[in-house]
This record gives sequence, structure tokens and C-alpha cells, in this order.
Amino acid sequence: MTSPVVLAPLDRDATFYVAGHRGLVGSAVWRHLEHEGFTGLVGLPSRELDLRDRTAVLEFFHRTRPRYVVLAAAKVGGILANQSFPVDFLSENMRIQTNVLDAALETGVERLLFLGSSCIYPRDAAQPIQEDALLTGHLEETNDAYAIAKIAGILHVQAARRQYGVPWISAMPTNLYGPGDNFSPTGSHVLPALIRRYDEAVAAGARDVTNWGTGSPRREFLHVDDMARACLFLLEHYDGPGQVNVGTGKDATIAEIAEVIADVVGYDGATTWDTSRPDGTPQKRLDVSTLATLGWTPRIGLRDGIESTVAWYRENRDALRE
Ligand SMILES: NC(=O)c1ccc[n+]([C@@H]2O[C@H](COP(=O)([O-])OP(=O)(O)OC[C@H]3O[C@@H](n4cnc5c(N)ncnc54)[C@H](OP(=O)(O)O)[C@@H]3O)[C@@H](O)[C@H]2O)c1
Repeated sequence: MTSPVVLAPLDRDATFYVAGHRGLVGSAVWRHLEHEGFTGLVGLPSRELDLRDRTAVLEFFHRTRPRYVVLAAAKVGGILANQSFPVDFLSENMRIQTNVLDAALETGVERLLFLGSSCIYPRDAAQPIQEDALLTGHLEETNDAYAIAKIAGILHVQAARRQYGVPWISAMPTNLYGPGDNFSPTGSHVLPALIRRYDEAVAAGARDVTNWGTGSPRREFLHVDDMARACLFLLEHYDGPGQVNVGTGKDATIAEIAEVIADVVGYDGATTWDTSRPDGTPQKRLDVSTLATLGWTPRIGLRDGIESTVAWYRENRDALRE
């Protein structure tokens, strides 16, 4: 059982680097930190600082000297992208995280949070998945290359703690969604993909929507604003080597999620499931008791979260990433 740790609160005026600050997680972390009074936030888009470029990353850290870092930059994608480009998911993520973690060590970053993903856990892990299921079985094949990169990141953080005594930590979010998500037809995760598909069906007056898989896999979803709160909470209340699961602890079938989305966007036609497409892991629900014991719980329910995400999508549809 993890006990709450009393850490000094983060200095609101310190330089705080949010790597990946334009992404789903990074932008939510940035918003939350601003809301909490942080005045020294720094972030650069990938076209100005490619984190795969080791020399550029080291130069950036020496120049800006962040005291705190949230590492939310990564090459991220859904099943299709992960299956099509496994080398990219392995190689790019290894390079991004190795460069950032090495530069952070070299320049004395005091507190750092590395973001992984629940796909690090074995495909057949007992549900709900506890943190100590890590490295106890085979990974889900559709995203094993990505998962191995993320596992290497967790180990990198643990090794830095062992070798240099830095109080760095890792968090493993469940599936996230919310404003700023990737809605592209080829790169998105399931929930934004469903929002786009059903919204387009409404716009086109379609009477049938076809989704990938059987609809039966069970998934857990956390709103990214809750995730951002959890990131700051962990930085201020957790100091341990083990990665901490972040989620709601509740799951639903993809078919149930699709039904809520269809209802929220106002689609009343039929839904067909293309069972020739892969389902991925049959069930994924995180055991979030470590985080609960530390004193953190999510605030945003699934239907409310989907409603606000659909509203954001409709407002920003024309300026979304492809
Ligand atoms: N989305 C989820 O459901 C989910 C679930 C669990 C865990 N996570 C984890 O959360 C983290 C962030 O995911 P996300 O969903 O926020 O992804 P995202 O929306 O795709 O954002 C990724 C960010 O990484 C940056 N980036 C990618 N390659 C880069 C490079 N070579 N150099 C510099 N920056 C680069 C991008 O910067 P630009 O925009 O400037 O190009 C972007 O801001 C990842 O570690 C992921 O594993 C996400």
C-alpha cells in the first residue's frame, strides 16, 4: 500500500518545461499549470525543437534550465498507425525520451514526470491491472513496439532514481480523451475516431455507421483535464520508483461508448460492426488504488466529458490536425 508522501510544493515561479505542450495531454497539463499559478512555463512545437535531435535537446536544456519537466511528447497513435509503423513508434519514442531524460539529468532537473501508457501491461494481465503486473507476461501485439519504448522510459526513470537519487516519477494513464485530441482518420484513438465518424454521419444524413471490430472490448476512459490534475498531484504527492496508474477504475464496452457518442451528436441511424478488423486487447481497466490511497480521484464523468469534447470538436473541426 502506497502512503501519501509530503513533498515541498512546486515553486510556482520556477521554469517548468512541458514537452509536447501542443498535444492532448501536454496542452491540458499546460492549461492546468497556468490555472494553478505557474508563471515559468516553457514549451516548443516539434518544428522548432525536434526532440529526436539529441544536440538540439541538450542545447535547449542548457539554455532554459528547467527545474521541473512533464514529458508528454511522444509519437502516439491508434491500432492502425501502430500496426503500420512499428519501427517509427519504437525508434522515435526511444529517441525522444532518452534525449529528454539524459538532458534533464545533465542539467539537474529537480522533479520530472514521465508519461507512459497502459499498453505497457501484458495483454492477459488480471483485471483491474495493478502496477506490479508490469513485465509479467506477453504484450498485445498490435502495439508492442510502442509499449517496449514506454517500458524503457519507465526503467530509465527508475535507473536515474537509483543511480543519481533524483525523485523522478512515471504515470501510466488509461485511454484519454478531451479537447485537443487527434481526430485524424488514420492516427486517432477509438473515442475521437467514433466522435468524428458519428458527427460526419449526422452531417451527411447517413443512416448506417460502420465501426471497427466487434464492439465488445472493454475500455476505460479518463478526461484529459482530470489527467492534467493527476500529473501535478503526483509531482507534489508521490515519490516512488513504481509507475502509478491513472484512470477512473471503471470500464465500458466500445459498443456502449459508441452509443453514448451517437446520442450526444444526435445520430439515430444504425451501427454495424466490421468484425474483420482487429479488436486489440479484450479488456483494459486499471487498478487505481495507489492513486486513490494518495488522495486523488477523477471529477469528470464519461457523458459530461463526451459532451464537452463533442462541443470542442465541432468548434474546432476546420483547424484540426490531419
Ligand atoms: N492519448 C491517450 O489516450 C494516451 C493514453 C495514455 C497515455 N498517453 C501518453 O501521453 C503522452 C502524450 O500523448 P498525447 O495523447 O498527448 O499525444 P499527442 O496529442 O499526439 O501529442 C504528442 C505531442 O508530442 C509532440 N511530439 C511528437 N514528436 C515530437 C518530436 N519529435 N519532437 C518534439 N515534440 C514531439 C507533439 O508536438 P507537436 O504538436 O509540436 O508536433 C505533440 O505535442 C504520450 O506519452 C502517451 O503515451 C496518451
